[in-house]
Amino acid sequence: MTTTPVRTRTRVGIVGAGPAGLMLAHLLARAGIDTVAVDVRRREEIETTHRAGILERDSVRLLVDTGVSDRVLREGHEHRGIDLRFGGESHRIDFEALVGASTWLYPQTDVFVDLADARERDGGDVRFGVTDVAVEGVTSGCPTVRFTDAEGRAQEVDCEIMVGADGSRGICRDLVPQDRRRRYYREYPFAWFGILTEAPRSSEELIYTGGDQGFALVSSRTETIQRMYFQCDPTEDVTAWSDDQVWDQMQSRVAGPDGFRLREGPIVNKTVLPFRSFVQEPMRHGRLVLAGDAAHTVPPTGAKGLNLALADVRVLGEVIEQALATHDLDLLDDYSERALARVWRTQHFSYWMTTLLHRLPDSSDFDVRRQRGELESVVSSEAGSRYLAEAYTGWPAG
Ligand code: PHB
Repeated sequence: MTTTPVRTRTRVGIVGAGPAGLMLAHLLARAGIDTVAVDVRRREEIETTHRAGILERDSVRLLVDTGVSDRVLREGHEHRGIDLRFGGESHRIDFEALVGASTWLYPQTDVFVDLADARERDGGDVRFGVTDVAVEGVTSGCPTVRFTDAEGRAQEVDCEIMVGADGSRGICRDLVPQDRRRRYYREYPFAWFGILTEAPRSSEELIYTGGDQGFALVSSRTETIQRMYFQCDPTEDVTAWSDDQVWDQMQSRVAGPDGFRLREGPIVNKTVLPFRSFVQEPMRHGRLVLAGDAAHTVPPTGAKGLNLALADVRVLGEVIEQALATHDLDLLDDYSERALARVWRTQHFSYWMTTLLHRLPDSSDFDVRRQRGELESVVSSEAGSRYLAEAYTGWPAG
């Protein structure tokens, strides 16, 4: 049976209604520009995906100052530093003292909920749970996104600009022909074993461990749910691990003469998080622009993924507004250039923090001692600590 698709016209079509897509829709709505955002996931599905929980200062400002929500300020936790722990000792990197900035612990899920609520409140057009998404005509005058909506109706949305914000497994990055794009990859021979545990907080701020005892990260979700990770093999089978074995690993990585111990509880979720670095250039092709994970992936060390996606759309919102007002689509090249400058700085930071704290499976004694020297340099030199503080809290927008 064929049914005539329902046709809609909008100015900007957005494939992907995660934080990047919804934030962009919100920014464009403020500029009086209509959008339609579609996502193959149902809203509840996105709300139950666990992702990193650290927001840079400017990510918080973007949510609060543009009127998405100020819930982050009420329910989030301001972190004025982190603990780098190695050799059984903690070294505080004091963000406030070093760069006058802080970060906020506020899970990505909450950012998504705030954005989805704001779109609903403002009457935005967001279609979750669609299927058979296809994008056509990105080099024509009128790109189209076709899909079947959650009620089973065929839909076609024509627009002036198409935004691919559909993540690393989305369809949009592949719309750029091979001879027009370049892809940069890095794989890592390790991964994170991530847990959610029903336990009280072990620390007010995040703890990153490295050195001889190996990598671990102590983070948090709520007063009663904690998020922790330790380095593991990418092929690790989480079901083979008992709670006791996981706690032994975590405790041994944070142990020290100060007697520090994590507060344990039942482990309610165990997953392996793969590591990879990826960039696709350029971020514009015809009337298609890519934003967030559709264009780049960073390893989770330093929690830059969401922040980088928000930084992309902050620039993209501005550029689209100008491009539509002046009918000059080549302004979209500025977006690609400006966004990529930050992408590569962030790629470096995420890579650097990863190599600072993780152990390669084949590392030599030299590598181990050199890494310890690097950790000592970071914590004992103000210049070393300041780079970490500045990059972690986020370079200023622009
Ligand atoms: C998290 O809370 O999940 C988290 C925090 C910091 C990171 C990565 C993940 O660097």
